[in-house]
Amino acid sequence: METIVNLTKEITFSPYLSILELSYIIASVLFILGLKKLSHPDTARSGNLWAAAGMAMAILFTILFHKTKVAEGMYEGIHNIPWIIVALIIGSVTGWMAAKKVKMTAMPQMVSLFNGMGGACAALISLMEFPGMQARLAAVPATNMLNGEALAILLGLMIGGVSFAGSMIAFGKLDERIGDFKNPIVRYINLSFLFLLLAFVVFIMLKSPVAGENWMIYTLAALALIYGITFVMPIGGADMPVVISLLNSFTGIAAAMGGFLYSNQAMLTGGILVGSSGTILTILMCKAMNRSLLNVIIGAFGGSSAGPGQSGDKTVKEISLSDAAVLLNYSQKVLVVPGYGLAVAQAQHLCHELETLLSSRGVELRYGIHPVAGRMPGHMNVLLAEADVPYEKLLEMEDANNDMNNIDVVIVVGANDVVNPAAENDPSSPIAGMPVIKVWEAKNTIVMKRSMAKGYAAIENNLFFMPKTRMLFGDAKTTLQKLITEIKNL
Ligand code: TAP
Repeated sequence: METIVNLTKEITFSPYLSILELSYIIASVLFILGLKKLSHPDTARSGNLWAAAGMAMAILFTILFHKTKVAEGMYEGIHNIPWIIVALIIGSVTGWMAAKKVKMTAMPQMVSLFNGMGGACAALISLMEFPGMQARLAAVPATNMLNGEALAILLGLMIGGVSFAGSMIAFGKLDERIGDFKNPIVRYINLSFLFLLLAFVVFIMLKSPVAGENWMIYTLAALALIYGITFVMPIGGADMPVVISLLNSFTGIAAAMGGFLYSNQAMLTGGILVGSSGTILTILMCKAMNRSLLNVIIGAFGGSSAGPGQSGDKTVKEISLSDAAVLLNYSQKVLVVPGYGLAVAQAQHLCHELETLLSSRGVELRYGIHPVAGRMPGHMNVLLAEADVPYEKLLEMEDANNDMNNIDVVIVVGANDVVNPAAENDPSSPIAGMPVIKVWEAKNTIVMKRSMAKGYAAIENNLFFMPKTRMLFGDAKTTLQKLITEIKNL
């Protein structure tokens, strides 16, 4: 143990240590407070700024106060500061511009891309640190890599690599550049890769280090990247939300490994916060999708694109704008169930306008929110909060379902998979068992969408053919605008 302690790179701090450590504690507190604030739409914006301020502080204080001991009483500051500043400027400007320019509908892709960058950073740290550690260990005969530093490096590379490659594939899928690759054999390939990865980490840990033998770390990096790809490739249909939050937690854990490696509390806290909140979100998403985490890790579930319940000669009933306006105007309780189409149409402001108009006529309008509606966790909440819809108007899926029998009219605005009855009544459906909003139990259901096209899971939706359902075809924004005008004219 003693040898290992003596062998590890000696990173001590100058008398500035207390200032630096204090700044990391303050940064950690800012991360925690920011995360707390992110949990409510009213405070989310400021929460983001608080956490960003914490990160800016940690970076600035590290540049100013981090010193490495080079000799007794001699400390050296960080090298290559101009390069660091140039990289910071390039990264910040690119991120700022991308975030400013991105369309709301492309936000999930961007989140995936940024998540992948976090994983890549963690993996690169490991790639950089491994040779130095190996050389230090190799200088002592009859030693192996069984120590915390090696473990942090290897896990950081493995998890970061999987997160990077997986997030890139998730980005491609969300952006509809990459299709699903479904083959039962993938399940076995995935499992083999996972075992191979873990076994290889153990192998490296047990092996005596020989300075300059870097093939091990590059092989591990390659295996992690391949596993990241094969892990996400077969996942499709309605199951992407689970994998996205899982990859998010991977990035956090990989960053936390960097925190262990550098004894950096801010990095450690940041990583742990992302890792744990991502894990909690994964569990919530699994619950929402009624999937087990084991299935996600094996990565071989997912909706098939050829769905059951073909429309055949079933007929679809349409409703005219004026009939819809009358129906809504004389209702008591209306529920709007938004989905991805709301984001595409950017119809959230008109939903709020409809809500205000109807409430001025004594009609109560609320929103039923499915946890995976849209393309990212909380997608509908974000959109509706942007349109100043009061938070109290949003009902969680369970509450919406409990009150469904009392609802006079449900308006489905650009939702499809999250209101598909096949989840409940077709055991062969790829979304069988996924909890959905049971809009067909309301007295009337109006579905606003442009066509009979399928949703993300690419399966037929029998809701459109049910007796109480009527379709109002068209872009949600245009249709809502016309509907509001009709109601005003009544
Ligand atoms: P989807 O099932 O994807 O259906 C959206 C519907 O919106 C489509 O059928 C489309 O039909 C309609 N639409 C598109 N543009 C429209 C427009 N301008 N105006 C009106 N309608 C429009 O959405 P959902 O019900 O929200 O379900 C989400 C799906 O995405 C689930 O399968 C979920 O698992 C998956 N997913 C979710 C996430 C997260 S974390 N939320 C992440 C990845 C994947 P038309 O083309 O006929 O208009």
